[in-house]
Amino acid sequence: MRTVYWQDGKVKMIDQRLLPGEEVIAEFATVAEVARSISEMYVRGAPAIGATAAYGMALAANVSDATDSGDLLNDLRRAKDTLDAARPTAVNLSWATRRLLSLAEEIAASKPSMEGSVADLRSALLAEAEALADEDIQINRRMGYNGAAVVPDGANLLHHCNTGSLATVDFGTALGVIYACHEQGKQIHVWVDETRPRLQGARLTAWELMRAEVPMHLIADNAAGHLMRTGQVDVVVFGADRVAANGDVANKIGTYKIAVVARENGIPVYCVAPTSTVDLDLPDGDHIPIEERGDEEVVEIGARSIAPANVPVYNPAFDITPNRYVTGIVTEEGICYPPFKQSLRTAVEKGRAAIEAERAERE
Ligand code: MRU
Repeated sequence: MRTVYWQDGKVKMIDQRLLPGEEVIAEFATVAEVARSISEMYVRGAPAIGATAAYGMALAANVSDATDSGDLLNDLRRAKDTLDAARPTAVNLSWATRRLLSLAEEIAASKPSMEGSVADLRSALLAEAEALADEDIQINRRMGYNGAAVVPDGANLLHHCNTGSLATVDFGTALGVIYACHEQGKQIHVWVDETRPRLQGARLTAWELMRAEVPMHLIADNAAGHLMRTGQVDVVVFGADRVAANGDVANKIGTYKIAVVARENGIPVYCVAPTSTVDLDLPDGDHIPIEERGDEEVVEIGARSIAPANVPVYNPAFDITPNRYVTGIVTEEGICYPPFKQSLRTAVEKGRAAIEAERAERE
């Protein structure tokens, strides 16, 4: 099943806040609600956020009462601002809204006074959102198989956060590599970091891997260093919310610590991310905005408080892993190795060309 999809004029998604206890489909009928689904983390994970935002743009066109393309474009620009503000670190969000807005602008510019242009724009935006979601699955499968090539049979992998079907439209990024190895019949085993404070590893990755029958153990985040030092980890894999032009990686808080300890112990570290997560506009990780989230994520587990009332809390949701700790960045266009500046640019250009080619084929 897809993590997020369009049905009956609404954006629908599995409510990830309730997993693994309950499997509930939540639905959203306005742009503000879709933005809330992202900020409140009904949906999370960079590619899934991007697909949700794309559907949010299609929804904006669908519910707009504009009667000409100029007014519709203004509604779309407002929708983009609302959606982009929902979460700051995952660049797939603004990548997706820009892709849909640019398409609408191109169509409007090419057919300024055409009868029915608003209806045309509405259907073109929905088709583009659907194409983006379909592409996400194909890209993840390609990335998964690209990454599987560097995972030996019998490997123990360490994985952080959730990068699986739930973090994407389907299949996943770093977990996609694990699913690809599993599909190839490799005898792998996964150490699943619980991933405090929101426990995406314990709640989501463990749930996904158990359903897929991939051998795994859930570990406390603090166990990872011990496992690496004692030779129980062969490969570290994680996703990314944004990769800067030089290969610095923003990912779930705790990733940096894992990558440093992996380097200390000679363990290869692979970041797995589609080219839509690479932000060539930012020279390095210091320019990536780091989201800070609410105190309750740190002081509560479930609804139960685990710290004194009113304790001061600092809760950055992501960290930056400098490129020197990253062995390779697995994309749908192949594995990028240092110097990342060149290899990432080449992959991004190929990724853009593939999207253009696919769009031309659809038309
Ligand atoms: O805060 P989240 O749960 O949205 O953070 C997600 C992660 O950090 C993932 O590991 C990352 O998005 C890569 S996902 C395919």
